[in-house]
Amino acid sequence: MLGGAGQPGLVPRASGADAGRGHARPAGGARRAGRHGPARPHPCRGASLALFAGGGAARPALPARSRPAPRPGRRLVPGRAGGGGLRERPRPRRRPAAVTPVPALPELRAEAFRLLSRGVADRRSAFHTPTLATIGPDGAPQLRTLVLRGFDPAARALRLHTDRRSAKWSSLAGDARAALHVYDPGAQIQLRLSGTASRHAEDEVADAAWFASQPGSRLCYSVSPGPGTPVPAPPAAPRADAGGRAHFGVLRLVFDRLEFLHLHHAGHRRARFAWGTDWVEETWLVP
Ligand SMILES: Cc1cc2nc3c(=O)[nH]c(=O)nc-3n(C[C@H](O)[C@H](O)[C@H](O)COP(=O)(O)O)c2cc1C
Repeated sequence: MLGGAGQPGLVPRASGADAGRGHARPAGGARRAGRHGPARPHPCRGASLALFAGGGAARPALPARSRPAPRPGRRLVPGRAGGGGLRERPRPRRRPAAVTPVPALPELRAEAFRLLSRGVADRRSAFHTPTLATIGPDGAPQLRTLVLRGFDPAARALRLHTDRRSAKWSSLAGDARAALHVYDPGAQIQLRLSGTASRHAEDEVADAAWFASQPGSRLCYSVSPGPGTPVPAPPAAPRADAGGRAHFGVLRLVFDRLEFLHLHHAGHRRARFAWGTDWVEETWLVP
């Protein structure tokens, strides 16, 4: 099959069913060892710890004749500084190496879609609060955290809510290109997505999102003056609706690029997916 594990290639476009099913995984599941293997520190971090944890190289070696014969299964280590002598320390037990087969690329793509779906449903998931990047009017990048409100896997569309008076809203009017980033430290997975964002203010998309929002969330849009306005002191939170709907907007980000990076002790796994009108391109990348 084209596009299988280790094989870059073109494959037919995923159907909605293939792409994003199964978002009802248990809360916090990605933080547990599982599909992606145990969440150990990745080799780079492990290496630096090992480098600094030693310290023993500077200690003076003990005379060979003062060393008692080691018993099987034990090793002798120098005692505390000043205490002298040797003490026995049990040999650290070696964990059996985790066998985590490299997933096929379509599996990885489906996993990315599951993580995004869970980000919508699970407030504790790292994917609940991704970072959205836009391009400012001066061409400079702008980043901020947003809550991921919805995900339509078949359309590869993410839904985000914001205030129409905000900088991101006007930036996207000038340049609709946007990118999204999430890193889940528990699962050691990073997702990077990019595509085009459309803005919805006074249409059925925005109406549906507004009426589905919690009353407390709607209050944010009643803040005055608008987000980003310099003020002499932080304003109090709005307590009553003061025309919030007029400021509420929905961003619908349809992504056509996705990069999946999983930090793995046996070798990091990085893959890129790209979508066209009737094709998906998927390939492993050197991390
Ligand atoms: C955890 C968290 C969640 C946030 N969720 C949203 C959100 O859903 N919508 C939003 O417009 N701003 C949200 N913000 C505030 C934004 O990060 C940002 O400060 C604000 O939208 C102004 O951004 P801008 O000036 O780039 O438009 C959130 C911030 C944090 C820390």
